[in-house]
Amino acid sequence: MTGKRTNGDKTLGNVDETISAVPGEWRFNEEVSQAFDSHVRKSVPFYDEIQRMVVELSEYFVGDGSMVYDLGSSTGETLYRLADYHSGKENLQLTGVEVSEAMIEEARRKVQAPSVGFRHNNILDVELSPAPDLVTSVFTLQFLRLAERRRLLRRLAESLVEGGALILLEKTRGDSPAFEDMWTELYWDFKRRQGLSPEEVLEKASSLRGVLNPLTMEENMALLQQSGFSRVEPFFKWYNWAGFLAVKNHSLAAPAGGVAGPEPERPGHPPAEGDRG
Ligand SMILES: C[S@@+](CC[C@H](N)C(=O)[O-])C[C@H]1O[C@@H](n2cnc3c(N)ncnc32)[C@H](O)[C@@H]1O
Repeated sequence: MTGKRTNGDKTLGNVDETISAVPGEWRFNEEVSQAFDSHVRKSVPFYDEIQRMVVELSEYFVGDGSMVYDLGSSTGETLYRLADYHSGKENLQLTGVEVSEAMIEEARRKVQAPSVGFRHNNILDVELSPAPDLVTSVFTLQFLRLAERRRLLRRLAESLVEGGALILLEKTRGDSPAFEDMWTELYWDFKRRQGLSPEEVLEKASSLRGVLNPLTMEENMALLQQSGFSRVEPFFKWYNWAGFLAVKNHSLAAPAGGVAGPEPERPGHPPAEGDRG
């Protein structure tokens, strides 16, 4: 079914074969969760390569006894890969935080590794305890309002262990209207190459109005630095899609207000030696 809309009239429109949505009301509901793994690959350029990069970057921050949170874990793709890659580590805990119950159900079906658990929580409210060595968030913070994003990033920077990191993937906005137009057109070409129809591409864009809140590259970088991350570097960029690695108190940098002390010891998690970040 393709929706028909007249002025002021909101009608369901198709955004993929089995997914429909209303303008301005994109939701990660049961219909989306069931088709998510296929839909996300038609919607996010280099999705599998991005997931692979997240996992290889994690090697610098994850050891025996590490705590990892994935914020907005959807069907658990990142945790599934992290659990597999780090299966030789001892006492590793990988926790997905997800507000959609339907997504958590799919994730529990897909990810059976004993190191992985899920919390049905809003990421704005979740308790990040035990302290994380690594937080990943793949295309989720873009759904928060600026003030919420700022609050969460501050809390993440506070909660992470010294030398711990955030791996953040975001849909971004072009720095100027000209770039924004180019990135959007080229992104829509990508979606057409994945087999989505022009109507589906437009219906998805209108369903995301007011729901998706992308920032520019510069705004993302500034926000991470203002939130307390001492080193921030983009590691991925494809038109309006980007990845950032943000490290807390890199071991060579003194934390604000003092000199970096040793990390608190945790069972199975010896203090970081030398340059981990
Ligand atoms: C685009 S998907 C993330 C994709 C996923 N991280 C992956 O790698 O495939 C965004 C997810 O974030 C979740 N989400 C959005 N806002 C949230 C919030 N405030 N708290 C928890 N989860 C949230 C959505 O339910 C959805 O599952």
